[in-house]
Amino acid sequence: MKRRDLIIGGGAIAALGLTAHALTRGPSYETEAAALRAPRSPQAMGEFEFLVHHATLAANSHNTQPWLFSGGADQVTIRPDLARATPVVDPDHHHVFASLGCAAENLGLAASVAGRSSAIESLDGNNGLRVSLGGAGATPDPLFDAITERQCTRSVYDGRPVPAADLAAIEAAAAVDGCSVMLVTDTPRMEQILELIVTANTAQVEDPAFVAELKRWIRFNAGEALRQRDGLYSACSGNPSLPGFIARPAFGLVFTAEAENAKCADQVRSSAGFAVFVSERDDPEHWVRAGRSYQRFALASTARGIRHAFLNQPVEVARMRPELAALLGTGGRRPDLLVRFGYARPMPRSLRRPLGDVIVTA
Ligand SMILES: Cc1cc2nc3c(=O)[nH]c(=O)nc-3n(C[C@H](O)[C@H](O)[C@H](O)COP(=O)(O)O)c2cc1C
Repeated sequence: MKRRDLIIGGGAIAALGLTAHALTRGPSYETEAAALRAPRSPQAMGEFEFLVHHATLAANSHNTQPWLFSGGADQVTIRPDLARATPVVDPDHHHVFASLGCAAENLGLAASVAGRSSAIESLDGNNGLRVSLGGAGATPDPLFDAITERQCTRSVYDGRPVPAADLAAIEAAAAVDGCSVMLVTDTPRMEQILELIVTANTAQVEDPAFVAELKRWIRFNAGEALRQRDGLYSACSGNPSLPGFIARPAFGLVFTAEAENAKCADQVRSSAGFAVFVSERDDPEHWVRAGRSYQRFALASTARGIRHAFLNQPVEVARMRPELAALLGTGGRRPDLLVRFGYARPMPRSLRRPLGDVIVTA
């Protein structure tokens, strides 16, 4: 091929890229993501809707938003929506229940802003949980203010360490009965954890069922993300926004163990540390507690300008859990969630479905 043909070919690809960019990205995604996080008041939107709205801004696995809310003035029930489970990566629904815990924690914080006390209890029969609301007079919890700022930031961080006082503060904020958080900030142990991440990540990326499930939840451009308002929008992970007809067939070519492991290594080596959430028992009630503890940790970190993202591969690949548990000295307890933290600029924010899709009659 002549040099001139190459230039024309290159120009065509660039033009296609620009057209794709114009078609698939636009101000409307950012506008929607910002509108979702605009200040609200219980008076203007109704107390129940105010509580549920803030609950839905919680972290949740694959952004499937696997929750259904019902209730009224004195209590809110949060049930798992198993139609939105991810059975390959999460066969026992651990992540579903952890996600319910994240939502319940946000809901309790929102209740404090509405002047209500709250108590969270798990329901029998893996039926989710109930948040009981007390009478007026509670003082607003300052963690509430970070709900709209929190995000999972899946980029390479800037390598700065977190000062000891902030480490102590985020560890203390994460306290939830029945769950402990372990912070790992020393390089040798972070490298050992990275080794487990790489082994587990390789197993996941090489499993066609895992890849197919993940791909189903990826929204490859802003149009798809806006239509569905759930799932993993590629730009939130630092990936290009592309038309689905290009991105879907190409996914298998770029999503390789080698490329993903290299990303994980850069992400870990630029982070200040890991937070590992380990609950006392391996059952849905305690998975909820792990989710609550993570959510509190995430909000307290966000309030201090500390960012975080999950690297859950070694807790998702069941055969890797004992090795991670031994490395951390958990005394045989199952590590629930693995999160890295540090400093970075924000990434594009994720969307949520409308309240009408998640509020149901009991
Ligand atoms: C239980 C649980 C497991 C998760 N696992 C991962 C993970 O392994 N990797 C990852 O990048 N994000 C993980 N996430 C983060 C979600 O993808 C994220 O919360 C969701 O996409 C919404 O984005 P946001 O938290 O920025 O609002 C997990 C979240 C929860 C609650």
